[in-house]
Amino acid sequence: MHVDTSKSGAKIDRHLFGQFAEHLGKGIYEGVWVGPDSRIPNTRGIRNDVVAALRAIKVPNVRWPGGCFADEYHWRKGIGPANARPVTLNPNWGGVTEPNTFGTHEFLDFAQQIGAEAYLSINLGSGTPAEAADWLEYLTTDQPTALAKERAANGHAAPYKIAFLGIGNENWDCGGNMSPEYYLSQLRVYSRFVRNFNPAQQTTDRMLKIAVGPGGGEPRFAEWTETIMKSWKGRQWSWDHMDGLSLHNYTVVRFPASYKSVGFGEKEYAEILQATLEMDRLVKQHGAIMDKYDPEKKVALAVDEWGAWYAQLPDTQPGFLAQQNSIRDALIVALNINIFAKHADRVRMANIAQMVNVLQAMALTDGPKMVLTPTYHAFRMYVPFQEATFVPVTFDAGRYTHGSISLPRVDAIGARDASGTLWLSFTNLDPNAPAEIATTIAGLTPRTASGETLTAPAVDSVNTFEAPNTVVPKPATVSLAGNRLSLTLAPKSVTVIAVRP
Ligand code: AHR
Repeated sequence: MHVDTSKSGAKIDRHLFGQFAEHLGKGIYEGVWVGPDSRIPNTRGIRNDVVAALRAIKVPNVRWPGGCFADEYHWRKGIGPANARPVTLNPNWGGVTEPNTFGTHEFLDFAQQIGAEAYLSINLGSGTPAEAADWLEYLTTDQPTALAKERAANGHAAPYKIAFLGIGNENWDCGGNMSPEYYLSQLRVYSRFVRNFNPAQQTTDRMLKIAVGPGGGEPRFAEWTETIMKSWKGRQWSWDHMDGLSLHNYTVVRFPASYKSVGFGEKEYAEILQATLEMDRLVKQHGAIMDKYDPEKKVALAVDEWGAWYAQLPDTQPGFLAQQNSIRDALIVALNINIFAKHADRVRMANIAQMVNVLQAMALTDGPKMVLTPTYHAFRMYVPFQEATFVPVTFDAGRYTHGSISLPRVDAIGARDASGTLWLSFTNLDPNAPAEIATTIAGLTPRTASGETLTAPAVDSVNTFEAPNTVVPKPATVSLAGNRLSLTLAPKSVTVIAVRP
């Protein structure tokens, strides 16, 4: 392997490490919100253990309230005194009731408690431009309007900062089954009328608007990206701005998801890793279409839903998307973040689905108990890559083969942070054999090298409430001789090393 720190690439935007929290299963209720009267330690109803864990991984932004839920969400039902809020339905996710006790103010409190920016998805599917425009006025104006007064009466006199606005969600599917042309006409209307009035966001810190983009690898999505980007190129002044186009892509062999999240063998391990590498093809495919209309890369590709989607755990409520999380998921994190980092000039935002108790989560909860997943630990190990500058790494990846599947055996990225430290991440996909790595480093004189590695006894090792430390990072053994760094990557492992000049 060779790293030349004098050859730098794009900045790895911290927003690549964003999260997604939808009103789905136990993601919000129980996972984040327990209510102020709960015996589970909480701050204004938001559980303290989850907040402390999320603060430690420096979550840059949280996307809320959905997902499919967003296109049926009516924000007015989630403001005002909790006991006066209506109970509604959540038809997308198990048909359960939605108490609306976690609404706009609670979400923004949660985002503030974990130190994240707010990424709101507005209801374009079943709402109206007026409803969405009112939501943004309610949130952001400092003028004495009726909506601002209502916000103040609900406990927040100052305007909120809304960093990102998603204009719909999967409107080609659960968001209204729209054609690209129909969605485009809606996008233009909503972009025009849904305004952020926060005085502090007018010239700097502008709210970034993310349009709905493609989802997965179906051929119809090339046309979707073409339609939106072509129109963006020819836009008039009244289409204010579009800062990002979303891409949704889950790691799934096929829907409905049937692969198990625990209790699987090497075949399923290899098939899922092969499926996750599809992300690279999609980023390149849609990036190339965007390049045709936007060679300066003004519009970001925002992968605002990604992660592994497995069969629901047995004995969990249908529609709740509850799954376990193994060392395989930690490798999925590393491989996907590496793909985003390699395309960091175009991919400037990503949101893993979902934050707590749903799909590829950071944490699982059961009443007062919480356990951190291998996915969480991989996110924590990658924190130094936030805002670091990509450094190209060249290497002989080798091959890992299982049956008819053949994958690169090793993956790696490098980045340099503001202090000059070089960060290297290595993933060994081979679950059976260690990988010996010898790296020569040019462009800096290394003084020290140290780091952490995450591996596990079996391909499906997980953390449980009873055994929470089966898959946790341990110090890595690394040796440095002059500019040559050597280490052995354990089978099925993720390792992050800091090389300090
Ligand atoms: O994350 C679960 C669902 O997956 C989201 O609600 C939807 O946007 C996607 O299809």
